[in-house]
Amino acid sequence: STANFIEADGTAHAVDVPDGENLKQAAIDNLVPGIIGDCGGFAECGTCHGYVDEAYVDRLPAPSEDERLMLEGILAPVEANSRLTCQIPMTPQLDGIVVRLPEVQH
Ligand code: FES
Repeated sequence: STANFIEADGTAHAVDVPDGENLKQAAIDNLVPGIIGDCGGFAECGTCHGYVDEAYVDRLPAPSEDERLMLEGILAPVEANSRLTCQIPMTPQLDGIVVRLPEVQH
């Protein structure tokens, strides 16, 4: 399936993601700038944050307690569609998902 990452400056990256792989890992593997993922994908660093396009938000698993707590601590504005991309495994239903990246990942 395909995930589309849009950097804060508008640069778009379309990335192939195997089903079951999380979006953070796919972004790292494809050298997408704007995703850092310091903790390796355990919802412990908050540096894989992105804004998921509204059309896909309802198809995602609900955020875990760990994810919600981590999102409270990040610098970028947190919106209703803010998610940690390491907590989003690709599924066929998410094909074409669009994730806009914040200017900062801390
Ligand atoms: Fe650390 Fe996602 S990679 S929270």
